[in-house]
Amino acid sequence: MKKQEVILCENLSADLRRALSACPHDRLFVLTDEHTRQLCLPLVSETLASEEAIEICIGAEDTHKTLETLATVWTELSTQGATRHSLLVNLGGGMVTDLGGFAAATFKRGIAYINIPTTLLAMVDAAVGGKTGINFNGLKNEIGAFAPADSVLIETDFLRTLDDRNFFSGYAEMLKHGLISDTEHWAELLAFDTEHIDYVHLKQLVGRSVEEKEKVVEQDPQEHGIRKALNFGHTVGHAFESLALAQRRPVLHGYAVAWGMVCELYLSHRLTAFPKEKMRQTVRFIKANYGTFFFHCKHYDALYDYMTHDKKNTAGSINFTLLTEVGDIRIDQTVGRELIFEALDFYRDCMGI
Ligand code: GLY
Repeated sequence: MKKQEVILCENLSADLRRALSACPHDRLFVLTDEHTRQLCLPLVSETLASEEAIEICIGAEDTHKTLETLATVWTELSTQGATRHSLLVNLGGGMVTDLGGFAAATFKRGIAYINIPTTLLAMVDAAVGGKTGINFNGLKNEIGAFAPADSVLIETDFLRTLDDRNFFSGYAEMLKHGLISDTEHWAELLAFDTEHIDYVHLKQLVGRSVEEKEKVVEQDPQEHGIRKALNFGHTVGHAFESLALAQRRPVLHGYAVAWGMVCELYLSHRLTAFPKEKMRQTVRFIKANYGTFFFHCKHYDALYDYMTHDKKNTAGSINFTLLTEVGDIRIDQTVGRELIFEALDFYRDCMGI
């Protein structure tokens, strides 16, 4: 798999011009959602207008990450004359970069694309590393492909207008990168003043977080081994997210991951001796900033069932990534039903439900 170029922007328009000229194309398309079209497109519209970019706009938020939306993007590309040599710029959060990336990966068997993530979650996770896809059959990212963008342009100025919930959603993935990298980075993330954000410091932390992700992806682009580290918190997190969706009270991905990390830190403590005090410190941060996802023990079976769909599983067992220490990763840890239920008990207990 080719390596994508990730740029922490100093000047988005200039960086975009460079990225466009590094990627020869006959026609240029730009995919936005109804929010980023209004709020973010104006920042790059001059650069895109000089190339007569054709706009495609889709509905915002995860509910639109569907086969139907994907089909409308394919239709637009097809009817507006895209060829195999066309280029797609995805301007938006993780929904736009995931779906747009998958549209690009599949249209005429693959066209080039550039991601310009506009949310923290997309900057530190979704837009980087080549995972693309859509939700299907009630399951998150059930259909997709590994297909890296040519370039990812990260403009952290977009974060200045991000709402709190989307800030914390992305911050959960940064915290995950902290947990799988080293104690110093993890401690810096826990100490960051999230109430009075210093955007210069945040930009440094975003750069560090993206570096961590790239380091892992470079070693294992298609997730046969160490890339599973990036799924820390996600086995339980995706189950929370799916349950919430089924109950028509959707939660933001990063919140589900944060709550999932509470359970998976517990499993790490029980099975691979993750230090209790570091578990407690992380759980305190999550409880203080993410609130609680409410569920009852009668939902344990349903949650377990969702976990059986996790892409890391091999037939018949649920496969976790656990930690023995901050930065010390144990992939392919099989965990039985009883211990998973114990982790859900721990969650309900320490989150006060
Ligand atoms: N979001 C996890 C990964 O990119 O592998």
